[in-house]
Amino acid sequence: MLTQAIVRRPCPAIVDGLTTSNLGKPVYHLALQQHIQYMKALMACGLKVNILDPDNNYPDSTFVEDTALLIPNCAVITNPGAPSRKGETEEMATLLGRFFQNMEAIEPPGTVDAGDIMMVGSHYYIGLSDRTNKDGARQIIGILEKYNLSGSLVTLEKVLHLKTGVSYLKNNTLLSVGEFIEKKDFKDFTIIPVDDDESYAANSIWVNDCVIMPSGYPKTQRAIEEAGYKILMVNTSEFRKIDGGVSCLSLRF
Ligand code: GLY
Repeated sequence: MLTQAIVRRPCPAIVDGLTTSNLGKPVYHLALQQHIQYMKALMACGLKVNILDPDNNYPDSTFVEDTALLIPNCAVITNPGAPSRKGETEEMATLLGRFFQNMEAIEPPGTVDAGDIMMVGSHYYIGLSDRTNKDGARQIIGILEKYNLSGSLVTLEKVLHLKTGVSYLKNNTLLSVGEFIEKKDFKDFTIIPVDDDESYAANSIWVNDCVIMPSGYPKTQRAIEEAGYKILMVNTSEFRKIDGGVSCLSLRF
């Protein structure tokens, strides 16, 4: 059962967030409204939401998921792969210190964005991406093993982060798009496939028996419902413009 979430309110500089899309710049006041709706969805799933103040030094800082990997009994502070995101971890480390007695950190030259790490029970899949390098992934596996957990590497071809294209929805079930539908690493899972024209919805989150997914993806919505899940939908159009999805906007534990 998840009980806590950490989010950071979007800052005005979000308009300069890193992006690979051509959807235009986020509209700040809409991003703020959508962020409030997102927090309400987390609360509706029973989570207490801890809110960090906006930090205008870091345009992408609302995407808190990348700054830490939370495992039972330990918070691992990452070293984000994009130079403009490196300092985002500082305040997060301070806040997480209130919740976790054990803290670890990824050291350079290792880089890790935790959006590249998907937890499945006691095993963690780590995507090797433009943000997460082999050194960082090996450090993560070393930390996992120290806590009697395990990790394995997954190669990515097209997506920014591993969880851009695949999400674990419990019950041995993955929501997957494109390269992840047939990937050998995931052959033992039940796959809910996402059509390419709804690829953004492959980034959804399971929170206490409910799936929070982005609104506007009816085929994926139907497929998740038919698999037996209750759904909460949130509009994340402004975050999508800078490659941010439903999972990126919170840490949940
Ligand atoms: N804009 C999110 C990221 O590139 O990390």
